[in-house]
Amino acid sequence: MKGFTRMKYGYFDDENHEYVISQPNTPLPWINYLGSEAYFALISNTAGGYSFYKDARLRRLTRYRYNNAPLDMGGRYIYLRDNASGAFWSPSWMPVRVKLDEYECRHGQGYTIIRSVANDIEARTRYFVPVGENLEIWELTLTNRRSAPADISTFSAVEFCLWDANDDGTNFQRNYSIGQVEIVPLPGHPSVGDVIYHKTEYRERRDHFAYFACSEKLAGFDTQRETFLGPYRGWDSPAVVETGVSCQSEAHGWQVIGSHHIKLTLAPGESHTIRFILGYHENPKNDKFDPPDSQVINKRIVEPIIAKYLQSTNVEAAFQQLREHWSKLLGIYQVETPDEHTNRMVNIWNAYQCMVTFNMSRSASYFESGIGRGMGFRDSNQDLLGFVHMIPERARERILDIAATQLENGGAYHQYQPLTKRGNNDVGTGFNDDPAWLILGVAAYIKETGDFGILDELVPYDNNPDLAKPLYDHLQRSLQYTLERIGPHGLPLIGRADWNDCLNLNCFSDTPGQSFQTTTSKDGKVAESVFIAGLFVLAARELSALARKVGRESDATRYTHEAQEMEKVTLGPGWDGAWFRRAYDDFSNVIGSKECEEGQIFIEPQGICILAGIGVESGHAQKALDSVAERLATPHGIILQQPAYSKYYLHLGEISSYPPGYKENAGIFCHTNPWIMAAETIIGRGDKAHDYYLRINPSARENIGDLHKCEPYVYAQMIAGRDAATHGEAKNSWLTGTAAWNYVAITQFILGIRPTYDGLQVAPVVPQSWKGFNATRKFRGVTYNIKIERQGPGNQVSLTANGAAIQGSVIPLPTQGEKTVEVVVTLR
Ligand code: GLC
Ligand code: GLC
Repeated sequence: MKGFTRMKYGYFDDENHEYVISQPNTPLPWINYLGSEAYFALISNTAGGYSFYKDARLRRLTRYRYNNAPLDMGGRYIYLRDNASGAFWSPSWMPVRVKLDEYECRHGQGYTIIRSVANDIEARTRYFVPVGENLEIWELTLTNRRSAPADISTFSAVEFCLWDANDDGTNFQRNYSIGQVEIVPLPGHPSVGDVIYHKTEYRERRDHFAYFACSEKLAGFDTQRETFLGPYRGWDSPAVVETGVSCQSEAHGWQVIGSHHIKLTLAPGESHTIRFILGYHENPKNDKFDPPDSQVINKRIVEPIIAKYLQSTNVEAAFQQLREHWSKLLGIYQVETPDEHTNRMVNIWNAYQCMVTFNMSRSASYFESGIGRGMGFRDSNQDLLGFVHMIPERARERILDIAATQLENGGAYHQYQPLTKRGNNDVGTGFNDDPAWLILGVAAYIKETGDFGILDELVPYDNNPDLAKPLYDHLQRSLQYTLERIGPHGLPLIGRADWNDCLNLNCFSDTPGQSFQTTTSKDGKVAESVFIAGLFVLAARELSALARKVGRESDATRYTHEAQEMEKVTLGPGWDGAWFRRAYDDFSNVIGSKECEEGQIFIEPQGICILAGIGVESGHAQKALDSVAERLATPHGIILQQPAYSKYYLHLGEISSYPPGYKENAGIFCHTNPWIMAAETIIGRGDKAHDYYLRINPSARENIGDLHKCEPYVYAQMIAGRDAATHGEAKNSWLTGTAAWNYVAITQFILGIRPTYDGLQVAPVVPQSWKGFNATRKFRGVTYNIKIERQGPGNQVSLTANGAAIQGSVIPLPTQGEKTVEVVVTLR
């Protein structure tokens, strides 16, 4: 067993792919995600959180209140009560918060295990969602560590959400009257308790319901919240738990909950396992009731599923299947470098976070209520970059979904709802960078898979099947969209915003509470974005390369030409002398220039322009990156812009609405940092690239947990910048484009192992002090075992594959059907 470095709040157990939290009162809830296809659950280290089916807004199973006190209230609660003394506690610490004698929470990939001891009763709860199922299992094992028998009551508790989380939190005049449940035995299983079905609105238009089942005979149950808690009482001291007597309450309106009560007597040393299942089920529309003319839920399909997971052998098999599923996914890219933070983020946590951001986009975290935002167009395309190697089939489906929300003019809905897959009209369109990201997503997918056929898939515009065109046509219109929107300096018009949602140069909002992005008060014919120019060059070069691959030579030539023209503009009015400018505002004044009083230099154009190859030969790139190092880099990461905006500027929009040092106003907006890391590798500076990598690497920040506050195993959207009072404090963990881009920066640019149309490329740009590293990459059905050895200080590579020398750095796909290729790389 390897030694662990224990920090204040926990430690990495790399061998088991887990993070172990060793005290419950972390600076913020440190959370995990369960489920990765349709049924999802967020769970904190104290069992807080909520569950939903596909869409956190439209199909919410359980309630959660965000800005509550105490923090993280509402979850998957278990109460234990010593029936002899009347003492009760929560084995997950919350919500009762009685001191536990031992406590440990292990977050793994798709599961969380909370183990604790109080009153000499050990409780271990394993929470997970089986692969392919729409349910979660809570498997609780109680062990009596006393020398005398223990008479213990166990209570479960969840609070049901009435499906639409937004309506649930606002429309009380209706909602207090509609709650309904059924509490019925599981036929053929006389030894298990009644199942609680939550069926609000099932009697009318819904064909789905939730269920909460328990593997034991019940001493009682409750489904009405105020009966369980007692009037004016909270989750920390439910009356039913205090008295040890359930009320068999049946909810009719008000607040619907599910609670089982189990009584057990455990002999000294004895263990007993109880399984709870919380799940979601949809019935066929025309077969909702049983008997058909009744109002009773048809349970014929769901009952066998419930029965299956009340069995311990099936639960164990499902857990092993989940473990295997993840070890297979993580096995696709594994590295062994001299740096432990690189290893554990690449091998475990960064890849895992990429799955979660792919699933959620920005919709549901402890900072995103799941109500406000569906799937982002630009966000989802970027999330895919870090995910595509794991399950390319899902990336393919996602690409087709996203592309179907594109508009005929090439523009895009900024967001869409995962349940309906329809564009969101409230947020609308006109974020002028959106369409270009589709090209990057598609190119990444084809490089990974070689599936050029996707380009011929017929995909609707605006979800209208009559407007379907091949995907390739969508990509062309994406570029055309920019070309048709060029401003006075020859740069692309910015629209409502580009990547930086908060740089709103056409919106001029002077009314509190107005949306900064959707309040368009200008026709938008003047304000331009250097960022979009850089992104256009990057996307046009991608599409050109892709066009060449599929024999569309004239398109390829045309896009290369357009890229060159835009590059010139970027190095003309887009260049400030020592860095790339950011934009021109509605008065044609420059933003991100030494001429400005505040906001002189921005990170985004430095990153994206260099990624596009702009100024690399001419030395502009190096100048820009030196300026970044000098003006934007801090020990906690690279700041978005400097100097911060000290006051609100009407003509700049939301960016200046944040206090200096936070979010887009000179925060360390982590998403942008990997662009700079990648850019550094493009000009050959591996030391700088990896140094930046470590500054925001959560594992490397574990030892400053009290300052950083967020989970040490996942990236956060933001770390407060130099101008903030709390410089170094992270916020908005989990759902951030940082996950995908860091994964790309470290795996493809720094470690340099990168899929191309023609094979796997190996071209590392790593720190000079590294003597080498090893990697395994599965790519198009072949396993590449890669050994890299440094023989000189530079980045020049010579390669052999299965002993044969390779020209250049791309290993062609094996023609002989070999399944493994041994790659030896010398760096000089
Ligand atoms: C948020 C948005 C993303 C945007 C970024 C910068 O993360 O989801 O789309 O690019 O903020 O404003
Ligand atoms: C806010 C946030 C920004 C995010 C945007 C999404 O503006 O500050 O980070 O991109 O909302 O709509």
